[in-house]
Amino acid sequence: MLYDVIVVGSGVSGLYAALYARRAGLNVALISKSTPLRSNSAVASGGINAVLKATRNDLYRQHISDTIKSADKLGRFSTVAAMVTGSTKIIEELSSMGVAFDCDEKGHLSQRAFGGTAEKRTCYIADRTGASITQTLFTQCRKEGVKIFPNHLMLSIATFKDQLSGITILRRRDSQVIAFACKSLVLAGGGYAGIYRGHSTNSQESSGDLLAIALRTRMRLVNMEFVQFHPTTLTKSGTLISEAARGEGAYIVDEHGVRFTDELQTRDKLSRDIVRHQMAGHTVYLDFRHLGEELIDKKLPSARKHALNGAGIDILTELLPITPSAHYTMGGIWSRDDTSSDIDNIFVCGECAYSGVHGANRLGGNSLLEGAYFGKLAGINAARAAKKGEFHPIDYAQVAKESRYIEMILEGESRFNINTMRTNLGNILYKKVGVFRDHDSLADALEYIHYLMKRSSGLCCVNKERSDNVELLSIIEFRNSLTVAESVVMSAMAREESRGVHYRDDFPQSDDKNDNVNTIIRRLTGTFLRISFEGHLSSDWWYRLRKFFHVL
Ligand code: FUM
Repeated sequence: MLYDVIVVGSGVSGLYAALYARRAGLNVALISKSTPLRSNSAVASGGINAVLKATRNDLYRQHISDTIKSADKLGRFSTVAAMVTGSTKIIEELSSMGVAFDCDEKGHLSQRAFGGTAEKRTCYIADRTGASITQTLFTQCRKEGVKIFPNHLMLSIATFKDQLSGITILRRRDSQVIAFACKSLVLAGGGYAGIYRGHSTNSQESSGDLLAIALRTRMRLVNMEFVQFHPTTLTKSGTLISEAARGEGAYIVDEHGVRFTDELQTRDKLSRDIVRHQMAGHTVYLDFRHLGEELIDKKLPSARKHALNGAGIDILTELLPITPSAHYTMGGIWSRDDTSSDIDNIFVCGECAYSGVHGANRLGGNSLLEGAYFGKLAGINAARAAKKGEFHPIDYAQVAKESRYIEMILEGESRFNINTMRTNLGNILYKKVGVFRDHDSLADALEYIHYLMKRSSGLCCVNKERSDNVELLSIIEFRNSLTVAESVVMSAMAREESRGVHYRDDFPQSDDKNDNVNTIIRRLTGTFLRISFEGHLSSDWWYRLRKFFHVL
């Protein structure tokens, strides 16, 4: 099949990209490996940041400043400024498509406080913001004629003489490998926090597939060590209890009812405070009891539901036990300010991309904004590239090779248990590459990942069904997760300092020499990975910009 533009991923960034490529009059396919509405964007419940009073320039300046400060001297100023100044338009546009943001009694959009911000700037729909936005964008994409392919798993980027020619896909309906040709491609397939299986707010599909594919295609990955832990998730399951809870006034307390931390500090610091308190023998809770039923039912209905279903707790009268879990990944596929990547006509956006806006620590509410802003930009630029570009032949030897790979997994004899291996990977990452890490813990994790990599070649399907074989999908995802996990740990070992969410017990301070320096990982021949460091702005410029934005 031939498409001018293919978009892979159906979160906010993918949907926005597909919509804007389609609006340029092109033939657009949106590929989703499962049901399109199961993305991580749908889980980002608390809200989307925006400066609404565009006439007051200082508010843009304040949002930029908060974002850069939170990024801990690793944010890319140019993309932060572009995203923030584009935020007003994004909210207007989403509203005009039918997203019903909550309003105050005067009819103005309500905004709530989120951690690490000087202003209340998070727009919301109760505590189900991401789900409402993705639903609206999905409906809009269908209405405007984007061709949607659910249950299609991308396997690889197809190239011809180093030029993009399309992608190969596993069609889940019959386990066939097929190829779609395109003139330009948008990668928007989400992050990799799901590899912390059992300790993550992400759905189990969040396995970092597109990052593994990018690495195999010799594209650069950036800052993979920066994994953000959300401070408030259910202790047993990792289910997210939105930051909206704290924004609306819920407290964090211990078993004595003592508030031991600032609930509205940035997520990196808050997660560390919670884990330190736990390590000192305390149990940590969210306390909603003083908020009252009316506010909870109006603004935090999902929190109440998750607490009841996931922990059997009624937050009106009881304390809710919480713990930090892996939630969001700042690392991603290298991209320029305009979302273009290492390969011509491939654009990247959303959580799988390194846009530089979040640096070493993302502000809550900035992910939906980033997805929307850079998704739109990627769609516009992919359409522009497709109009100038042409189709290149698909290399069918590559398709045949991938078909044989799938056959081997389907037909081979299974020697290991995929569920145990996935759970073990999640446990080791949480324990050794968690909120706190050091050289020895990282070395242990790397050794274990290499052990799992060797064993994963013996993973085959017990279930030989061809139709919608979930086990087959899990094995492919798991192999991708291992590739990504290796990059995370190698990057974390290489960064010998603490910055943002990356806290090394053996290097507890930031090193000024590393201000604004990114960790780059790239695959050379075979499976050999090479780490290097790159700065993206001269230190003098960086100094002047930070001075202007008062974030020195
Ligand atoms: O807590 C939350 O609602 C998550 C929001 C986000 O990650 O931006």
